[in-house]
Parts: sequence; structure tokens; C-alpha cells
Amino acid sequence: MTRTALRTHYCGALRLEHEGQPVQLGGWVHRRRDLGGIVFFDLRDREGIVQVAFGPAWSSPDVIERAQAVGAESVVMIDGTVGARPEGARNAAMATGDVEVHATDFRIVGPAETPPIPVWRTKGEELPAEELRLQYRYLDLRRPELQRNLALRHRLLQRARGTLTQAGFYELETPILTRPTPEGARDYLVPSRVHPGRFYALPQSPQIYKQILMASGFDRYFQIARCFRDEDLRADRQPEFTQIDIEASFVTAEDVYAVVESVLVDLWQVAGHDVPTPFTRMAHADAMERYGTDKPDLRFGLVLEDLTDLVRGRGFQAFEQAVDAGGRVRGMRVEGGVALSRKDLDTLTQQAKSAGVGGLATLKRKGDELTGPLARLEGMTAEVAGLRDGDLLLVVAGADRITSPALDRVRLAVIHKLAPAPRQDHAFAWIEGFPLFEPNEDETGWEPAHHPFTAPADADVALLREGRLEQVRAQHYDVVYNGNELGSGSIRISDPDLQLTVLEAFGITREDAARRFGFLLQALRGGVPPHGGFALGFDRIVMLLTGSDSLRDVIAFPKTTAARALFEDAPTLVPEDELAELGIQRLP
Ligand code: AMO
Repeated sequence: MTRTALRTHYCGALRLEHEGQPVQLGGWVHRRRDLGGIVFFDLRDREGIVQVAFGPAWSSPDVIERAQAVGAESVVMIDGTVGARPEGARNAAMATGDVEVHATDFRIVGPAETPPIPVWRTKGEELPAEELRLQYRYLDLRRPELQRNLALRHRLLQRARGTLTQAGFYELETPILTRPTPEGARDYLVPSRVHPGRFYALPQSPQIYKQILMASGFDRYFQIARCFRDEDLRADRQPEFTQIDIEASFVTAEDVYAVVESVLVDLWQVAGHDVPTPFTRMAHADAMERYGTDKPDLRFGLVLEDLTDLVRGRGFQAFEQAVDAGGRVRGMRVEGGVALSRKDLDTLTQQAKSAGVGGLATLKRKGDELTGPLARLEGMTAEVAGLRDGDLLLVVAGADRITSPALDRVRLAVIHKLAPAPRQDHAFAWIEGFPLFEPNEDETGWEPAHHPFTAPADADVALLREGRLEQVRAQHYDVVYNGNELGSGSIRISDPDLQLTVLEAFGITREDAARRFGFLLQALRGGVPPHGGFALGFDRIVMLLTGSDSLRDVIAFPKTTAARALFEDAPTLVPEDELAELGIQRLP
């Protein structure tokens, strides 16, 4: 509905084909320029910007005078005629750059106070500090970049809905006021007034409900689901975020892969990218071995190697000690790595050390000369090290759990610095065969590597019953894209006794399990098909497809990294009497 009772066209829609047409426009004054008797507005609405000109040939002196007084960001309505811009005045960088609107009259319908942050910027001008932008979010959201991001977000959402509906999925909603659903973060709790002392939890995900929907026979479910997690925030995390959440019955992982791939292919297509399927598949253990991470950036070839045999027994003390302690020596051969300067290598070393390793040893080959600390190893030659002219060897030693994250960081930093041509632009992959258990933080027991409803690999159920937990693999899978985890899912446990066994392995007693997950266990006992599913992090997808650096640029009203909403100012203090009504007392 472009045309309304007050407007004939969107500003951003005007083209040469409209030349000579009378138009009524409404929009924000993005910028005003006064050029000796002619006044120009860049008039902006959701669809773009058009130049509006007030000149003596078509505007009365009174109109021109009033136009000279209009402040930036005021909302005005314009009456005028579309004219072709003279040849020399056309702007190929603007979609409406061939035309301008000759204004015969205008009204200010929404006068604006002087904006505390500018919406219009000259090219290359820095954005105001993010705190300020979040505080004045209504203005920041007017920026064409954010308008574009949220417009794409809308189109992606509609496409996901369409794709899943076509594939026979029902969009069903699950509660926001609920019981805790564990996904590894803290819960946001909501006190109940009617039941003093009791709390709802906001869902960390719809996980349990979607499984119950399968027990209830809905067969295929999806939801654009809001999830809430009280966790330490990073650029790619928000306390409240959106998932494309999926569950299906009578499926194996293969079926889930096919659905998720079709959704992702369609979403990437909306953003103008063709993505080939099927996606690459990689075992979790291989990802850790070759890339040091479970979300490898597969656009680039640089892979990690076990170099223990290469350096062992050559008189390098730190390596010998690490290996004696049960560790390994691992590293990578960087083609063209001699281009990295001394300073670059120092930075890499710092990055490796901050991940916990003792140091980063190097060996460079330039012509026939070997340099770097590893050149002193007994019997070390370019052939032994497998280095070609211009190559660099980077090496760390220690336990895998320390060397993997260190090498992951080093690898990404090397790629960033050397900027090799990517082998592909869109490197999707399935990572499969994750472990089901991981040691808890203080290493006194086990916690779910994902959530406790993930089925163990069929072949590993015996290991589970024998208590060899570290060896049990999960029927869990992640999708990674250019080094980002886009989503994860699994085949679920549908046998209530197996579910209890797994919960027990996590240290949850039967009584506890009945108390916390009784409603799920009951549903599993009432006749449940084999089922599995997936959740895509939707905000992350929009961030990547818009080329944004932060989730905050693709969410209309995001939180800061301190989980605050600066614009509406939340969380807030609550008056004592309201707390009392909820049966809550503040600690002194
Ligand atoms: P998981 O916890 O892996 O799985 O979440 C799925 C995806 O959601 C995104 N995500 C986030 N995005 C923004 N901010 C956050 N704080 C945040 N946390 C997670 C990520 C992640 O890959 N119930 C399971 C799914 C399932 O098994 O079906 C779940 O929630 O992109």
C-alpha cells in the first residue's frame, strides 16, 4: 500500500518514468542545503531518499523562505511535480538520482527538535559512540543501513516461514512463562504474584515443548522462537534472541540435514547468493584435530598438523616436557608466511599465550636459509620440516585442550593478516559426532555438551551404561558457516529409561529428574515417535547476510553487552510495595 490518503509515492520509488507527474510525498528531512535562492531537501522514507528542490520557477517566495527554516529530521509533506535532473546534476549513486521533485508547497507535520545524534553523515564520517546510538535508538534506526538490515531481516523471516510451511511444518507457539529449559545458561526468572515464592522461567529455548508436540502427533513443527539466556554477552550473543526452531517426527539426522539445508539455501538466495548442497560434513574429532575448533572457517585451507614426531628428540626442552606430560606438539605450515613481520609474530605469540600455551615457536624458510628458534633443533632442515621457500612453521606444545584453542586463534589471525584468496565464499559444513558429555567447570563431574535430551549414538549406548562417559558420542550436529556456528540440533532421546540414565550420568537423581523434567518423562512414556530437530540462530544469520559486525545492528531494540536496554532503560528498580506484593524482599 504505497499510496495512502496523504501520499502518492514513496520517496525512494521515484524514477524518470514519473517525470511530469504531480506527487505528494511524506518523509524526514535527511539534509537541507540552501544554494543561493534554491533550497534542497534530501527527503527520506523507508524506501529511500529523493531530492526535493524549492526554486523560484515553481515555488512561491513564501514557500522558499519557510523551507529555509526547516530543521533536520522534521517530518514534512510535500506537494510537487517530478522533474528530470539536468544531465550534469544526475547522481548515479542514488536510485532516484535522475530525478528531483519540484516542490510547490509543503507542510511540517512532525517538527523535530535538534537531533542529539545525526542521522545524516558525510561519507567516511564516524558513527557516534554506540552507547549514544542505543540511547537514541529511534534516531539510529532511521539510518539507511539499519533500515536496510531490518528490511532484509523481514524478508528472510518470511522466506523461512514459506520454506517450512511448504515442507509441511506447522508454525506453533510455545509458552514464554514456563519452567526452566536447560540450554547451559542461567534462567531469567519471573516471580508469580498469585503464588508467592514461585517463579516462572523464561525459556532458554522451546526444546522440551517441541519434543512434547512430537509426542502429541503434530509431526512437523517450527517456530520463530524468542529465547532468553542470562549469560555473559559477546558481540554474537544477546540475552534475548530469535531462533528458527524446528522439530520433526520419524526422522534421522539425514532428514533434518535436508530440511535445514533447504532453509539455509533459500535464506542465502534472498540475500542474492547461490549456495551448493549438500553441505560438507566433518566429524567433530576431525574439526578439532585439523582446525582446533568445532566451528572451523573452511573458506581457507590452512590446517593444523601433529608435529610431535617431527620435533621430538631434537633437544627442545619445552617440547620434550609437554610430550612427557602426555601432550602433543602441534602447529601449521603457512605458505608465504615469511611475509609476516617480527611484530606480527609477536602479536601471534601473545594471542597463543592468552589461550594458555607457553609460547609459539617459529621456523621460517627464505631461500635456503632457516631462521627462528626452531632452526636450532638438532638435525633440522627445510626438508625435514617440509618447508618450501617462503613458508613459515608455527608450533605450540601441550595438552590438546589448550593447544586447540590457541592454534584456532593463531590460524584465524594468520588468515586475517595474510588475507589469502578464499577457496569459496560460502563455506557451510555439518559438524557431527560431538561428544555427549563434557567435564563440568570444576572437573568434578559431567555436564551435557549441549542439552540433556540429545540421544547418544546407537553404537555408544553400551559405553554409556558402562559409565565410559567420555567416549560416548552424541547424535548431535551443528551447522557452521565461515567460522560461525549458525545452529545446532540432534536426534532426541525417545526412550524414557534411557533419558533417566543420561540425566543420572549428569548427576541428576531420579527424584530430581521427576521434579524438573517429569512432564517430559511422562510424555515420553505416553507413546512418542523417534524425533529430532534443529535451531538456527536467526539474528546471527541476519548479521552475516548483512555484513554487520554486531547482532545489535540487526535487532531493532537490542541490549548492550551489560544486558541493559539503554533507550527504554531496562532493567529498572521496582518500588518496595510492588516487590512486597510479589513476596520479594530486597537484601539490605
Ligand atoms: P543452541 O543452544 O545451540 O541449541 O542454540 C541454537 C543457535 O542459537 C543461536 N544462539 C544465540 N544467538 C544469539 N544470542 C545468544 N545468546 C545465542 N545463543 C544461541 C546460535 C546457536 O547455534 N534447543 C537447541 C536446539 C535443538 O537441539 O534443536 C538449542 O537451543 O546460532
